[in-house]
Amino acid sequence: MLAVGLQGSPRKGGNNSHTLGLFLKRLESKGFQTVTLPIPQLKFAFCIGCGSCEKNGWCIFDDDYALKIAPMLRRAEIIVMASPVYFYGPSGQLKAAMDRGQMLWSRKYRLKLNDPSKKRRRGYILSSAATYGDDLFTAFVLNARYFFDAIDASYVGALTFRGAESKNALAHRKDTESRVYAAADLAVGPLAPPKRRLLFVCRDGAIKSRIAWAMATSSSPPSTWIRHAGTEPEAHLKTRCDTWMERKKTDIRYIPVCELHESLDTFSPNLVVDMDGSLQNNPKITADITWDLPLAPPNNEDEAQSLIRQVEYRVKKLMASL
Ligand SMILES: Cc1cc2nc3c(=O)[nH]c(=O)nc-3n(C[C@H](O)[C@H](O)[C@H](O)COP(=O)(O)O)c2cc1C
Repeated sequence: MLAVGLQGSPRKGGNNSHTLGLFLKRLESKGFQTVTLPIPQLKFAFCIGCGSCEKNGWCIFDDDYALKIAPMLRRAEIIVMASPVYFYGPSGQLKAAMDRGQMLWSRKYRLKLNDPSKKRRRGYILSSAATYGDDLFTAFVLNARYFFDAIDASYVGALTFRGAESKNALAHRKDTESRVYAAADLAVGPLAPPKRRLLFVCRDGAIKSRIAWAMATSSSPPSTWIRHAGTEPEAHLKTRCDTWMERKKTDIRYIPVCELHESLDTFSPNLVVDMDGSLQNNPKITADITWDLPLAPPNNEDEAQSLIRQVEYRVKKLMASL
């Protein structure tokens, strides 16, 4: 399971870096893989409202948003946004990142694509401000709630700190750690502890295992943690598979191809499905279940549709048996 923190303060090592660090540390102790995205340090354009994503699902800018932020938003089960209050809203940098989420809004609402993780993704807010006004966090919470809806994360809540002006204000408060840990526990909700950790493996890592991941993820409870990997990843096959899945209204375009060793570094599966015999004689891991799906990728549309049906049938049967 992946937890991604969007660090929205340009002040390095300040209050929001501190609280976000504690939040993610708590999630790591529960078995989550964590990633921090320092939004002010990433290079991405403002949304210019060109409408391209509403027609084709793509953003015209091929920058850090497309390469680093969008794939993380798609992969993550927990997304936490941390920001100082700037003139009663979030930082401009974080707001710009939320605006670029319009592409994901378009994929959901215009193209009607389904994100396989939509029922399990959860969103949380951390924020701090120097003063004590009643409505300090209202605008950020509202921005974030609409953004979370666009990226299919259910909004869990916000932990806010008033009177935090200096850079180390929250690091010096005695109750900061316990409050952040309690917030992290709340954010996790039904995602942990995991009841099962399932890994789908195929040779190319781009087609069968990603399709199985999508089908199993959308049909299983949040306490089933699911990953996918390839023994000999072939990233160039990914786009073809994404297009086939979009015809089935399933959105896996930003889900990256994972190498087996990379998956095993951050995930300890207790059920391994070898989909095509590619784990035979593998010194690192033994399959619990082996399927006999073809090793080679489909050659044409008919073969692709037939493969998707075979994967679907097997995944359904497997999930029903667990
Ligand atoms: C440009 C700017 C605007 C700010 N606007 C507000 C504000 O409207 N209300 C407030 O209480 N604090 C405001 N602050 C103070 C910050 O929200 C506060 O110091 C916060 O804890 C900083 O978090 P950080 O250390 O993570 O950057 C502002 C600070 C800056 C630099």
